[in-house]
Amino acid sequence: MSDLRKEGVALQPALAAAPVDRRSVVSVFSRLRTADGQSNPLLLYAKLRAMGDVVPAPWGGHLVTSYGLCHQLLRSRSWRVPDSAWRARQDDAARWNTSASRQMGGTLPMLNPPDHTRVRRSVGNVFDRNSLAGMRTSVERTTHRLLDRFEEELAYGPADFCALVSEELPIITIGEWLQIPRADHAFLRSLTHDQVYTQELFPTPSQLALSEESSRQLHEYFTALVKERRRRPGNDPVSAWLRVWDAQEPDREAADGAVYSLALFMLLAALETTSHVLSGTVRLLLEHPRQLNWLRVHPEQLPDAIDEALRYDAPIHMISRVAPEETELAGVTVRKNEMVQLMAGAAHHDPAHYAAPETFDIRRRPAHLGFGGGIHFCLGNALARMEADCLLTALLERLPGLRIGGSPRWEPRVAFRRLITLPVVRV
Ligand code: HEM
Repeated sequence: MSDLRKEGVALQPALAAAPVDRRSVVSVFSRLRTADGQSNPLLLYAKLRAMGDVVPAPWGGHLVTSYGLCHQLLRSRSWRVPDSAWRARQDDAARWNTSASRQMGGTLPMLNPPDHTRVRRSVGNVFDRNSLAGMRTSVERTTHRLLDRFEEELAYGPADFCALVSEELPIITIGEWLQIPRADHAFLRSLTHDQVYTQELFPTPSQLALSEESSRQLHEYFTALVKERRRRPGNDPVSAWLRVWDAQEPDREAADGAVYSLALFMLLAALETTSHVLSGTVRLLLEHPRQLNWLRVHPEQLPDAIDEALRYDAPIHMISRVAPEETELAGVTVRKNEMVQLMAGAAHHDPAHYAAPETFDIRRRPAHLGFGGGIHFCLGNALARMEADCLLTALLERLPGLRIGGSPRWEPRVAFRRLITLPVVRV
């Protein structure tokens, strides 16, 4: 009996699984991996969903394309994340046993219980209502400063919203929270762009090399940061985590290692994802001017618009899970320890779950998988929402008459969406 059934999770009825032609999956992925494919992946996702709810992946493992199954697996208590032990068992050492992969294996989203439970508890309620209220004034101040510069640039023609605003706000916000010197922000942001390749599904050897080097530098940076906070503890999250870990972990080195992984992952988790929500929401609203005008009159509906943008074009389109035992999913056998990729981007446009899924509709109020689900549900979701709310509120108030002023460009990646440029003009 599968674990999902033991847990009483109602599995979707097994659809008759027609054999899938591997070449057609390869063809969809090779197009998804291009900048062109990323500019509109919806057609490609529709092709993938048409192949089945569970599609064998040509490189091994499976893809889960339906909303229902993605949702169930995220919330399952028995499905696992690919932790260090899983990585160490893989034959493809060049992919899974690099130091970048081992570094990821130690971070919170790559831990399974009981380690996950212990580490997640140690983080504390860092983004609760009070903490966010305390951060909001500073995020608002930063937003207005960034928009001042954006407005100046707009006076001369198209201005790149990504470079001037959406790439800046998240690093300044998380940098101030972690109390990282301003002078290091650009360096750290550039390292995170390179590090992400190790979290992609098919990194090329040169991307893996970039990722290795950035992981080494991130390791150096955050090890030094933890050491420094040990020497001079302050009123900051890293010092707070050191106090928590010292109280529960007699081995000082292990405590430092746990705090290092937390600080590192908070930075990695907070940058590209939040930048994408900021630029992606602005792009979608500029492409739908009637909804943008409606929002100007109903700014209290901004949170709904942000949720619809998270559904329509979430920053993370694939989430990995590992089967705890041999299991049947929608008529397809998944072997024990096999990896499945939850295709959140495809699931967000599943017509079995959403009416008219390809329509961007800010009044939809959708449930979505943008922040994951279950025990790994995004710890920073409230912070990301607050940044998006501050920025969009200020944009609506300050800058009417914006239009897209050139072709947006996307990074040719599949799992982590990244809008590189969004040229905007003022008319
Ligand atoms: C819009 C921006 C963001 C999006 C779309 C996002 C998305 C996600 C998703 C999908 C997961 C689950 C991964 C999985 O199940 O394997 C996750 C986990 C996580 N996120 Fe976010 N994230 C965002 C912003 C942030 C921010 C700003 C922070 C922290 C400052 C953060 C910290 C985390 C952490 C620590 C986890 C791991 C939680 C765990 O495993 O228990 N995220 N995020």
